Amino acid sequence: MPGVTRMQSLLFLLLFTSFIFLNSVNNVNAGITSVFIRDEWPSVDIPLDNEVFAVPNEHNAPQQVHITQGDYDGKAVIISWVTADEPGPSKVQYGTSEKNYEFTADGKMTNYTFYKYNSGYIHHVFVDGLEYDTKYYYKIGTGDSAREFWFQTPPEIGPDVPYKFGIIGDLGQTYNSLSTLEHYMQSGAQTVLFVGDLAYADRYQYNDVGIRWDSWGRFVERSTAYQPWIWAAGNHEIEYMPYMDEVVPFKSYLHRYPTPYLACKSSSPMWYAIRRASAHIVVLSSYSPFVKYTPQWVWLSKELKRVDREKTPWLIVLMHVPIYNSNEAHFMEGESMRAVFEEWFIHHKVDVVFAGHVHAYERSYRISNIRYNVSSGERFPVPDKSAPVYITVGDGGNQEGLAGRFRDPQPEYSAFREASYGHSTLEIRNRTHAFYHWNRNDDGKKVATDSFVLHNQYWVGTTSSQSYVSLSMILNMANPGIRINWLWH
Ligand SMILES: *[C@@H]1O[C@H](CO)[C@@H](O)[C@H](O)[C@H]1NC(C)=O
Ligand SMILES: *[C@@H]1O[C@H](CO)[C@@H](O)[C@H](O)[C@H]1NC(C)=O
Ligand SMILES: *[C@@H]1O[C@H](CO)[C@@H](O)[C@H](O)[C@H]1NC(C)=O
Ligand SMILES: [Fe+2]
Repeated sequence: MPGVTRMQSLLFLLLFTSFIFLNSVNNVNAGITSVFIRDEWPSVDIPLDNEVFAVPNEHNAPQQVHITQGDYDGKAVIISWVTADEPGPSKVQYGTSEKNYEFTADGKMTNYTFYKYNSGYIHHVFVDGLEYDTKYYYKIGTGDSAREFWFQTPPEIGPDVPYKFGIIGDLGQTYNSLSTLEHYMQSGAQTVLFVGDLAYADRYQYNDVGIRWDSWGRFVERSTAYQPWIWAAGNHEIEYMPYMDEVVPFKSYLHRYPTPYLACKSSSPMWYAIRRASAHIVVLSSYSPFVKYTPQWVWLSKELKRVDREKTPWLIVLMHVPIYNSNEAHFMEGESMRAVFEEWFIHHKVDVVFAGHVHAYERSYRISNIRYNVSSGERFPVPDKSAPVYITVGDGGNQEGLAGRFRDPQPEYSAFREASYGHSTLEIRNRTHAFYHWNRNDDGKKVATDSFVLHNQYWVGTTSSQSYVSLSMILNMANPGIRINWLWH
């Protein structure tokens, strides 16, 4: 029949063209496994008497000061700190000029025990009604032991608002962690997206667990007191430790690191979303129920519908366990969440998914595996221009050391991977362009190693990037039986 013949020649033409085209871009698309090998400082925690953990001298002085976004759109912060000797007031004085605190806000105090460790008095104060794009000075504590800090509120949300985020994961409290933190602080980024595994306090036993949460809080204060860190929880926050009768998951984490989950109608501080500048940031919990009908699943389905790409063009997802990972460490641990949420990420055109967990760096191509199901036989990820880029930044430098063994050969979905410590920055320029950098810690120097321009997925029509993926998509639609990814080699 003439119809079939025309169809066949069209298919042949498409296949032939794509074969030549894909071969010509083969070098561009071959994944890179970096051969860089750095001298690693020993993966041991910095001793407690080191100055990076110094306790402020004055009696009952606030310590472990940290702030996070307090509402949906960035006009509020939650300010948290610990007092060690007595409760003291949960009060923040603040204002827009130094030493002139026109306003006060009151919050609440909490404390907890962990085995025989008694936490300090943990204060959380919600400060709202702030102006956008304004520097605020704040003061906490009383008398001689009062301490002063400042932060900058974000600009009002809008489609072309530039903003620079940092991304850090699996930080811990070693000399490598310190190097990551110092490099991050030189980056000029305004807010940290933290992808889980904070203190690694659960590597200790008995009372030392609580003590290492406290030391970590003092360690990161140099940054967390001055700009919000957006928290996602990792496995090291679970702290299920039946040998000492500690069986309530996330006890230390939840007492210490609040999140603005009520503002986005979430039912748990473990998963939530915020909008900041031109970004809508969704934080998921790898270690809370997420399968169909669970609260996290129901919440995410609604939150993704609330995303307004005309207001916040950039849709960013944070989670601890990576969905695409070609390291031997934690290989396929993200498969369960992939099976549940990947389709939504494609449908809603998520721009980028940041994860941690694997102590190395890896970036994927835009690929998806949503046609796979238990009876379909479509077992491999394929190029998908609607898919996010998946980036693993579990390379903060904690005491467990690097995940140095990548699977060989490098899978088609993996674009770049390197087992080194470092952090990333995402510098949003406008609704279409963001500059992404991964910065390796290179013995005291910060070296931008993996960089690319991230084109917005919603406003992608205004760019011509990744046309090779469009071509393979046409082929996939013409005949779903053809496995395009084999043509890439
Ligand atoms: C919290 O602090 C109060 C006041 O010092 C104390 O009475 C209480 O036992 C503490 N609770 C816990 C759980 O440590
Ligand atoms: C599973 O895959 C088969 C074959 O592609 C398809 O017909 C079916 O609808 C899929 N089922 C689900 C639940 O996705
Ligand atoms: C967005 O930013 C990019 C990179 O700076 C620039 O090339 C482009 O012209 C900008 N687009 C608009 C509409 O301003
Ligand atoms: Fe982890």
